[in-house]
Order: sequence, then C-alpha cells, then structure tokens
Amino acid sequence: MAQTTRIAVTPGDGIGPEVVSAAIHCLETLRTKHQLALEWTRFPWPSHAWHEEHAESWPADALAQLKPYDAILLGALGDPGPINDPKRYLLSDSVSLSPLLEMRKGFDQWVCERPARLLPGARQYLKDDRAKDIDMLVIRENSEGEYVSQGGRLRQGTTDEVATQMEVFTHHATERIIRYGFEQARKRASERAEHGRVRTFKTLDGRTCESQVCVITKRNALKHWGDLYTEVFEEVSKDYPDVATHHELVDAACMKFVQCPWAFDVVVASNLQGDILTDLAAVLSGGMGVAPSCNLNPTNPDMPSMFEPTHGSAPDIAGKGIADPTAMLFTTARMLEWLGQKDPKLTAAGKELFDAVAADLAEKGTEQRDTQEIRDAICKRLTP
Ligand code: IPM
Ligand code: MN
Repeated sequence: MAQTTRIAVTPGDGIGPEVVSAAIHCLETLRTKHQLALEWTRFPWPSHAWHEEHAESWPADALAQLKPYDAILLGALGDPGPINDPKRYLLSDSVSLSPLLEMRKGFDQWVCERPARLLPGARQYLKDDRAKDIDMLVIRENSEGEYVSQGGRLRQGTTDEVATQMEVFTHHATERIIRYGFEQARKRASERAEHGRVRTFKTLDGRTCESQVCVITKRNALKHWGDLYTEVFEEVSKDYPDVATHHELVDAACMKFVQCPWAFDVVVASNLQGDILTDLAAVLSGGMGVAPSCNLNPTNPDMPSMFEPTHGSAPDIAGKGIADPTAMLFTTARMLEWLGQKDPKLTAAGKELFDAVAADLAEKGTEQRDTQEIRDAICKRLTP
C-alpha cells in the first residue's frame, strides 16, 4: 500500500465548514470504495471563532503544524455570518484573511491555478452561445508582485499622510510562472488531442498551434514590470514553438474576457491582476458557486499546496445549509489529482470525483438545492 497521504482540513468561517463537510463526505466515500491510503485532520483555525477565544486567528506555530501535511484543504475565511446576527464576532478583512496570504507565502505556493470552463448545466451569463466553448486556465502569479506587503504609512492620520504600497517583480518568479504557463498549455493541448477536442490558435507569423499562452501586463503605463514580463515571455516562448503566444493589456483583457472569452486558452497574470481577472473568469464559467482554485508549490514537495474555492465565506447565506458545495468539490477533485504525484490511485479518485460533480451539474443545472442534497447526489454517483 502507498504511504499514507495526509490532508490538513481548515474549514474556516461562514459557509466554509458547510462546504468542507460535503468534501469530507465525498473523500470518505472514495476512501472506502478504493481503499485509499488517505487521512485528514481537521483544524479549528484559522477562524473568527479561534480569534474570539485566543485573540489571534491561529497559533503562532500554525505554519509549522501544517507543514508536515501533503495538502491543505481550506473552506473560506472572513465574516462568519449570518449577517442578521448583529452580535457576531467581526474582524477587519485584512486580519481574518491574512492566514490565507501567510500560507501562500510561507509554503511558497507560487502558482494560483483558476480554471474557467463553462461546463454543461452551469449558469451561462453571456448570451452569445459561443460561451459554451469557454475553457481557459488563468494562472495567477502567487508569490510577489502587488502582494509583497511592503510599504507603510507616514504621518498617519494627518492630512499630510503618505501611504506607499510597493510592487516587486523578480526575474526568478516571472520566469517560473511563465514557464509553468507554457507547460500547462502543452498539457492541455495533449489532453484535448486525446479526447478529440483539438483547438487552434494562430501565431503572429501565421502558423497554427493547438494551444496558446496569453500574458497580461499593463506595460503601456507600468513600464518596468511590464517590460520585464514581456522580455521573459519572449525568451521562454522560444522553448515552446508549438504554443502560440499572445499579449493583452489588463484593461483590454477584461473587455475581451466578456467579448470573446472562448478565444483564450492559458492566461498568465500578475498577483493582483490575476486576482481581479479570476473573479471575472469565474462568472464567465458559471459563477462563484462552481469556481475552483488552488495554490501550488510545484518545486518543493516538502511544502504543502493549498486548495480552496475562489469564493469567500458568504455571510449572507452562512448557517442556512444552502451553500453550493460544487466549487469546493471541484477543488477537492483537483487536490486529489495533485496528490496523485505521490500516490497514483488518488489521480483516478480525483478524476472520478470531478466526473461525478460535473455529471450532477449537467443533470441539475442551477436548480435550487441545499448543501446536503447536492452532496448526497454526488456521493451516490461515487458509490458503490
Ligand atoms: C482570492 C482572494 C484573496 C486574494 C483575498 C481574500 C486576500 O480575493 O483568493 O482571490 O486577494 O488573494
Ligand atoms: Mn480574489
């Protein structure tokens, strides 16, 4: 039997625990069915509840406690809801969300992968029927850029105050994220070819490729990092002549995400620009209820990667048992697939979970169902 794979489960706040318990239910079903060597430990932190009791979102050695795990499965952080409870324990967003950023940084999860594919049954927000072909992978640089949190406030609270917020872009992080984008483009093209779903993209010199990487900058205004991204993109692209290359300014990319999102394949963006683009991409592929996300460290297997849906704690519906666990379950499927690097049986389990969630979505579409009903319908597809 393979060495046991261990998952740290951090349900967090709001609908986090509700959708995570649906994920655990599916994991349990898969574990029994395939006798998977899989274990998980549930942590009460990071969370508002922990902060209320201990005056901190998580223990000082939280990262050290999480490090030995093979992956972290996170629900959501932030306002615990329900919003009609005026006495609920509230923290500023920057306090409640900081563990998320600390995990990304502490475990050098330098890739944030957010696939946006409009699957059958998902809500189609765009009227144009070509929206059915939306199938992109937005790769967000997750280690630096606008999120380095360097800077400060001078003469705070006075009318002479000056706030600085630094952006830092290194050649090292730029190169690795762009290269990762090209690798994913190749992988996607070969998977599509296997399934007879070949897509074509034109290069500037008139060739046709089966995949594309589009890099996003704002190089017309933010020249320094824009030029660095452009130069590194050009250099790395030489190693991938089979992949078409493309560049968009971030504002034009927003426009084209709405106008012709089906024209994109892999999109590589900086930390903040990727953050913004992926909320838009999530809506294009059915909304936050179905949008998965993961924070990966592809270079150091001793560091756990973290899997969380793109959505937040949804305090408006927290505690009602009506949160849609679909995004969490697609995220869990991606986690299993990722953990397949260690134990190949998990790859198959991830694929099986993905197919079950997609089949449920295709059958039920946007029908209003509560969390447990969706969970049970999906688990039923997994058993026996
Ligand atoms: C996300 C979120 C976070 C981010 C926030 C909560 C800090 O918006 O994961 O997309 O900006 O990265
Ligand atoms: Mn975001």
